[in-house]
Amino acid sequence: MKFFIDTANVEQIKKAYKVGVLSGVTTNPSLVAKEGVKFEDRIAEILREVPGVESVSAEVTPDAETAEEMIAQANELIKINDNDPNITIKLPMTLAGLEACRYLADKGVKTNVTLIFTVNQALLAARAGATYVSPFLGRLDDISEDGVQLIVKVAELFRIHNLDAQIIAASVRHPDHVTRVAMAGAHIATIPFSVIEQISKHPLTDQGLAKFAADWKNTVLA
Ligand code: E4P
Repeated sequence: MKFFIDTANVEQIKKAYKVGVLSGVTTNPSLVAKEGVKFEDRIAEILREVPGVESVSAEVTPDAETAEEMIAQANELIKINDNDPNITIKLPMTLAGLEACRYLADKGVKTNVTLIFTVNQALLAARAGATYVSPFLGRLDDISEDGVQLIVKVAELFRIHNLDAQIIAASVRHPDHVTRVAMAGAHIATIPFSVIEQISKHPLTDQGLAKFAADWKNTVLA
């Protein structure tokens, strides 16, 4: 399973990129709004900061309701960084979003269909030519459903039918989500920087480092 970072914060993106584990970035209107910056400028900045990653998702804005409006926005987004091939147009899981997805996929543009909450939605998005489908597990947990089970089922479905779309486990909230979606066969987990930090840590690692440091100091001083 690959890691994408789920943020529009450039400092966090730069830190994760530097570690060398990042394969992509996902943003959404809420994440960009939190940064208080112009959407297109921030996407351009992100694209410049992460050369070599496979995908940077930029979502069409909520006021684009028809496929035509989404495609018009996508055509502008594609130009942001000189037709960067890794810009990925994030589209809502609606019939209009699927129509735009099919159009863009046929033009060779990467797409990410977002706000997926059922197996059927994932199947539709895959059949509309999506490069990525994003089932949201945390938001299902929030309403007392089992979000990880959705990833388990979508992964199984894609295997049975040999579907090419990659599954991005989205709305990931904690380390256990990461382990379980990796075991379930998600191709990618998009996670906040705080969770990247959390999964790098263990109290026994800290204890072990402290012990090595203390023993080393005693040896050097002996
Ligand atoms: C994915 O692409 C979304 O940006 C994201 O994972 C949403 O997560 P949230 O439910 O924590 O807002």
